[in-house]
Amino acid sequence: MVEILFAKLALPKDGVLVLPVGEDQPLSGQAAVLDEILGGMLSKAMATAEFKGKAGQVLNSYNAGPYKRVILAGAGKPDAPRRAELLGAAITIALAKEAEAVILSEDFTAPQAAEIGLGARLRAYRFDKYRTTQKPDEKVKLEKLKLLTAAPKEAEAAWKIAAAVATGVEFTRDLVTEPANVLYPAEFAERTEGLKKLGLKVEVFGQKELEKLGFGTLLSVSQGSVREPRMVVMQWLGAPGHGDDKKGTKKPKDPLVFVGKGVTFDTGGISLKPAAGMEDMKWDMAGAGTVAGLMAALAGRKAKIDAVGLIGLVENMPSGSATRPGDVVKSYAGKTVEILNTDAEGRLVLADVLYYAQERFAPKFMVNLATLTGAIIVGLGHEYGGMFSNSDELVGKLAASGEAVGEKLWRMPLSKEGEGYDKEIDSAIADVKNIGGGRAGGSITAAQFLQRFVNNTPWAHLDIAGMAWGTKDAGVNPKGATAFGVRLLDHFVRGFE
Ligand code: BES
Ligand code: MN
Ligand code: ZN
Repeated sequence: MVEILFAKLALPKDGVLVLPVGEDQPLSGQAAVLDEILGGMLSKAMATAEFKGKAGQVLNSYNAGPYKRVILAGAGKPDAPRRAELLGAAITIALAKEAEAVILSEDFTAPQAAEIGLGARLRAYRFDKYRTTQKPDEKVKLEKLKLLTAAPKEAEAAWKIAAAVATGVEFTRDLVTEPANVLYPAEFAERTEGLKKLGLKVEVFGQKELEKLGFGTLLSVSQGSVREPRMVVMQWLGAPGHGDDKKGTKKPKDPLVFVGKGVTFDTGGISLKPAAGMEDMKWDMAGAGTVAGLMAALAGRKAKIDAVGLIGLVENMPSGSATRPGDVVKSYAGKTVEILNTDAEGRLVLADVLYYAQERFAPKFMVNLATLTGAIIVGLGHEYGGMFSNSDELVGKLAASGEAVGEKLWRMPLSKEGEGYDKEIDSAIADVKNIGGGRAGGSITAAQFLQRFVNNTPWAHLDIAGMAWGTKDAGVNPKGATAFGVRLLDHFVRGFE
C-alpha cells in the first residue's frame, strides 16, 4: 500500500519530483522558480515534446539539476470532473518504478491534495499474494508519496476520511479477487468478523440458524454445495445520541440498510453454465463484498449515521443434493417460489435477506447490490450499473453520487406488482417463479422478482454484473476487481449525515 503524506510547500533537495501542469498552462509558482533555477530546462522540454498538460500526459526529465527525475504531469482542464483523483491515478502509473516521490500540489486546495492521494492509492492497488516467482523488476515499487500543499494539516484531516474509504475499497477488492477455493461462505464471514476492530457489530448466521429462521430460498441455492451458507449482519451505530454501546445492546434507529448478493461461486447449479468464462463466477459475490467494504469505510471514518449491511453467502453447485429445476421452496417471507432455472440463484439469496432486513430493521431505505444478470451487461455494457427502484428520490440521489465518484448508474424500468413486466414471473403452481417467460428483459424480470419481497420500504436494486470486474485498467481502477459501489454508497451516505 502506498503511504500518503503531506508537507508544506517547499522544493525538496533531491529525489523524484512531480509537477502537475494544467492544460495549456505555463509553469507557475514553485514550478516556475525551479524552471528558472534549471535554466529553462523544463519549459524547453515542454515545447520540444509538445507537452500540453492534457490529463494523463506525462513528460520525464532525468537528472534535472539535483533531481533524479522531474515529472511534468498533465492535470487537464480546471473544471474537468474528478480532476484531482484522476491526476493521482496518472501519477501512480508514471511512478511505478520509483519507491518514493514528492508531488507539488500548489495549484490544488488541501481537500484536492487528499483527492490526489486517494486516486494514487486506489490506482496502486495490487493483489499479488499468490505470486511466488515475481522478479524484482516486475514489481511495483511505489511506497511513499508526499504531497506538498499550503495547508498540510487540513489536507491530513481530509486524507483520514479518504483513507478510510480507500481501505474499504481495498477490502472489497481483496474479497472479490480471492479464488473460490479460498473464499467460500464461512471464510468470507470470518473476514467480516475482522471488521469488529473498527467498532462494527458483526453477527454470523450459520446453516442451522438459517434453517430455523426458514430461509428456504437462500438454502435452496446452497444445498448442492459441501460449503455451508452464512448470513452476516454488520451494524454501524454512528448516529449522535447513542452514547457508548459497551453492552452491545443498542439498536439502530431508522438505519440506512445495504444488502449484498454473495454467491462465492456460481456454477449455475443443475442448470449448469457453459465452461467458457465460468471462472468469472468467483466474483459473483461482489455485491456482498461491496457491502462489507462499505461498512468498513463507514466505520473507519466514523460516519455519523446508523447503517446496517446484510450479506447472504452461498455457493451454487450441482450435486446429488442440489435443487432441481421445477422444485418449489418456501421463502422466509412465506411466499412459495417455483425454481425453473437454478442459475437464477442470486434473486433467491436476496429474497430472504431483503425480507429479513426489512422485518428486523425497519430501514429508512434499503439498497441492494448484486451481480444479478448477464442481461444487464447486454443492455448497459461496462459504463453504467443498472438501477431499479420504487423511489424517485433514491434514484436521484444514487445517480448523483455515482456521477460524483465516477461509478455511474442508469435507471431501468420496473412495473408495479401485478402489472407489466411483473406478470412475467407469475407461476402456474406457486406464488412466483424465479425466471421470466424468455430471455427478453432478463434484468428487469430479475428486479421484479426482488420487488416481490420488498414491502413499503423505499428501495433500490443495483445490478453491478457489468461493473464489478474490469478487463483493463481504467482511471483509479487497475484491471480486476473494481469495488464498484463502495465509493458511490459512501458518498451517498454522506448526504444523510
Ligand atoms: N451471476 C449470474 C449473472 C452474471 C453473469 C454476473 C455474467 C456476471 C457476469 C447470475 O446468477 C445468472 O446466472 N443469471 C442468469 C439468469 C438467467 C438464468 C435467468 C443470466 O444472467 O444468464
Ligand atoms: Mn447464476
Ligand atoms: Zn449468480
